[in-house]
Amino acid sequence: MDNRRYWRIAVTGFLVSGIFGLIQVAAGEESAIARWYTGQQVEQGKTLYLAHCIACHNQQATGTTEWRRTGADGNYPPPPLNGTAHAWHHALSVLERSIAQGGVPNGGVMPGFAATLSQQEIRATIAYFQSFWPDEIYARWHAINNR
Ligand code: HEC
Repeated sequence: MDNRRYWRIAVTGFLVSGIFGLIQVAAGEESAIARWYTGQQVEQGKTLYLAHCIACHNQQATGTTEWRRTGADGNYPPPPLNGTAHAWHHALSVLERSIAQGGVPNGGVMPGFAATLSQQEIRATIAYFQSFWPDEIYARWHAINNR
């Protein structure tokens, strides 16, 4: 193989792999499902979360590490809402209801917020904790939510 032909093949190979790399990056970005909420809802939700939820569900919705086990009082501790526990198993309407009614109707201890927060404000708190969910968890929730 003469030198020029060698270089042509090498340069073409380099360009082709570069183009494929760009396509993969673009496709990766597009595959993330668009979130239902706006940045403004996340901001509003953060303010509400700091006022009403942080005492139990901890900073950045990290909750309690041992959320799977009941505590000394026989109750389940506040779970993380950041995508590491099972909040993502519940559709938006179910999450809204559990925040509005609290956990008491289901034998839990979380207070209900129906008297304190409007439905729109409850949605904003959900937007806030969902903003911590990685794309992969959000995609799984999205599939459940749209079943
Ligand atoms: C007094 C403590 C307390 C406060 C305040 C509180 N929670 Fe909870 N939360 C809990 C506990 C404990 C649970 C587990 C179920 C139960 O015992 O009711 C829970 C469960 C939940 C769940 C269900 C999670 C799942 O994985 O199914 C959601 C969603 C939730 N809380 C959101 C909120 C939001 C949003 C706020 C603020 C508006 C809030 N909580 C305020 C203690 C609290």
